[in-house]
Amino acid sequence: MALTAEPLCRYKRWMRIDSLPRFPLAQLPTPIEPLKALTRELGGPELITKRDDQTGLALGGNKTRKLEFLVGEALAQGADTLVTVGAAQSNHCRQTAAAAAKAGLKCELLLNGQKPELLNGNLLLNELLGANEHWIERSQRTAKLKELPEQLRAQGRKPYVIPVGGSNGVGATGYVVAMIELMEQLRTSKQRVDHIVYGTSSGGTQAGIQLGAAVAGFKGQLHGLSIDKNDPEHFEYEAEVAQIANDCAKYIGADVVLTQDDVKVVYGYKGEGYGVVGDLEREAIRMMARSEGIILDPVYAGRAFGALVDLIRKGTFKRGETVLFWHTGGSPALFAYAKDVV
Ligand SMILES: Cc1ncc(COP(=O)(O)O)c(C=O)c1O
Repeated sequence: MALTAEPLCRYKRWMRIDSLPRFPLAQLPTPIEPLKALTRELGGPELITKRDDQTGLALGGNKTRKLEFLVGEALAQGADTLVTVGAAQSNHCRQTAAAAAKAGLKCELLLNGQKPELLNGNLLLNELLGANEHWIERSQRTAKLKELPEQLRAQGRKPYVIPVGGSNGVGATGYVVAMIELMEQLRTSKQRVDHIVYGTSSGGTQAGIQLGAAVAGFKGQLHGLSIDKNDPEHFEYEAEVAQIANDCAKYIGADVVLTQDDVKVVYGYKGEGYGVVGDLEREAIRMMARSEGIILDPVYAGRAFGALVDLIRKGTFKRGETVLFWHTGGSPALFAYAKDVV
């Protein structure tokens, strides 16, 4: 199904994105690059990539786009501190720490597990960016995300709480804007895209892309490649993504409702679990690096690209079709996985 992008005004005029609080953090638009060598090597569809690893904030990634709207709202509410939660090597936490630094806010991070002796990857950057870390058990996440802001309020601070991955209606707005940005790029370059693929985990990126696609009239197919869930655990996830998209639609004033059946997630690539590096990720990271000079991380973009390679080999896409791999960033985490990757 070919895509024909409509003029921007057609889908922007009935939304209020331009009047929402937004704090500029990203270098936009991110480039679209052809993956010529990989296209040849894999012998399938034409491959291109959108480089959201190049969003520019403290080594980039998809969270920059969400944080523009989250930090915008935090500042509009008079907050003085961003509070969020994530895995030890969370890209979201690193980007939140950077956004806080740039916006003149304090940052409190709730991280899963025990603080390692060697600060590496995103943890090193959190330290340099001046975030305050609290190490917790993953099972305590929800409780601590309530407790910590209460403690901060008792000290006279004004916390703004960002959910895991920045995935709520406000954060997803960043990916509605990203989808509109992509449609504009395709329209001006007269390029056609049949499939868009990206890693999905906490759902905000997918919710924004799906809502943006509905709003902007994208006619191709969307494939969220789950990096941390397996079928049949999935029903709740589709419902969660639809809920984020619908919260986002209300926030931006878009007259669109998504159901869980609209949310397209591909399963089967969880491997040994979240953040456990296997042959799929190792091959994908090397292939992308050696063929295109582009760096992927093993947890998100590397796993998602590995899944895409597998789908291409299985003949999921037709020759002559164009597949856009949305590079969502994450490469700083690569250094913390050095011994698993080589
Ligand atoms: C590099 C990278 N790619 C993709 C994702 C998935 O995005 P989302 O959590 O919005 O589903 C994440 C989430 O942390 C990420 O860090």
